[in-house]
Amino acid sequence: MNTIEQFNEHVMQTYGRIGLVMESGHGQTAVGEDGKEYIDFGSGIGTNSLGYCDEDWVNAICDQAHKIQHTSNYYYTKVQADFAKRLCEATGYEKMFFGNSGAEANECAIKLARKYSFDKYGKDAERNIIITLVNSFHGRTLCTLSATGQEVFHNYFFPFVGGFENVIANDIDDLMDKLNKLDNKVCAVMFEFVQGEGGVIPLQQSFVNTIMLECAKRDILTIADEVQTGVGRTGKLLTSELYNVKPDITTLAKGLAGGVPIGVCLANKKCSEVLGKGTHGSTFGGNPISCAGGNAVLDKVTKPEFLEEVRKKSEYFREKLVQIDEVEGVDGLGLMIGVRLKTKKAADVLNKCFENGLLILTAKDKLRFLPPLNISYEQIDKGLAILKKVLDEK
Ligand SMILES: Cc1ncc(COP(=O)(O)O)c(C=O)c1O
Repeated sequence: MNTIEQFNEHVMQTYGRIGLVMESGHGQTAVGEDGKEYIDFGSGIGTNSLGYCDEDWVNAICDQAHKIQHTSNYYYTKVQADFAKRLCEATGYEKMFFGNSGAEANECAIKLARKYSFDKYGKDAERNIIITLVNSFHGRTLCTLSATGQEVFHNYFFPFVGGFENVIANDIDDLMDKLNKLDNKVCAVMFEFVQGEGGVIPLQQSFVNTIMLECAKRDILTIADEVQTGVGRTGKLLTSELYNVKPDITTLAKGLAGGVPIGVCLANKKCSEVLGKGTHGSTFGGNPISCAGGNAVLDKVTKPEFLEEVRKKSEYFREKLVQIDEVEGVDGLGLMIGVRLKTKKAADVLNKCFENGLLILTAKDKLRFLPPLNISYEQIDKGLAILKKVLDEK
């Protein structure tokens, strides 16, 4: 029995997988069990932020594993304290909570927002509605699925968690209408600056400004889900910096620890004390090895010259993409790139690219690229040459 057959016999079939068994990786290259190499423009959905097995990152993880791999959250570790301090200082947030994934980071944000209103306005006020956006994606737990504004996800698992209302992204009138209708019942507005799974669609500045302004007026918390957009992905440490706003809460995961599980919920001073003893927790949250990986990522992504390079590479990527005939347009921000095609099907292009040694992603009907943040120009050229060949084929 080969690896794929063995896997499929024992693992629930919740993913449509590609027939590649990855054995190892180095830099921006993944290596299959059969020795075949692939340029990776997906980086594990934006998670291997420094590529495969970056040497400093590997050393940080291995050193930590030699010291202590886990302790319950009844104790402290220095590596956690260091990571938390560095992340809060780099992002300008007051405090954070440690989880292990994007969904967990968002669960924390949702609990925090509801308790903020509960503490301040009382249970009877029922100020617990969270507005999220149509076409959003916030995770796969029952609560974050309920928050996700896509009907396709609201099936099978009834009853879903109540208290979520959707507003059309970039529709200021719809936002104002819902805020006015749900007067005094809303505790938070939650959004992605760029809807990733939804098709790599950035929010407009005016829409973000309206969210920030109206929420501040009404004492509604703003939650930025930066699970995919955060940690340098768009050329700033946080995408909120690009929009020049500071949400009350920001969630991060994916690339934050370079490929080991982590998810954090960052809160500003206004709401950083809301979750007190016994209100939230996670056995693995703040795992020392993840924190060591996180420190190695922060060493690089907090440097202005690193972020400048992300911006330059993004421009380079885009300039080359628009030169391909089949490309209708390029969306997204930084190294979070969506490509609209004129005639071809994104899924077919993905398969053809795979056959030719290039790993890419799709989002809705677009091609999607989330390459490692430190991808080299050489690898961009090589990968895009494969893509061009596939797209030029008649
Ligand atoms: C914006 C956003 N939020 C949350 C999640 C869920 O993250 P995780 O799969 O780590 O739970 C994702 C995953 O794609 C995401 O893109």
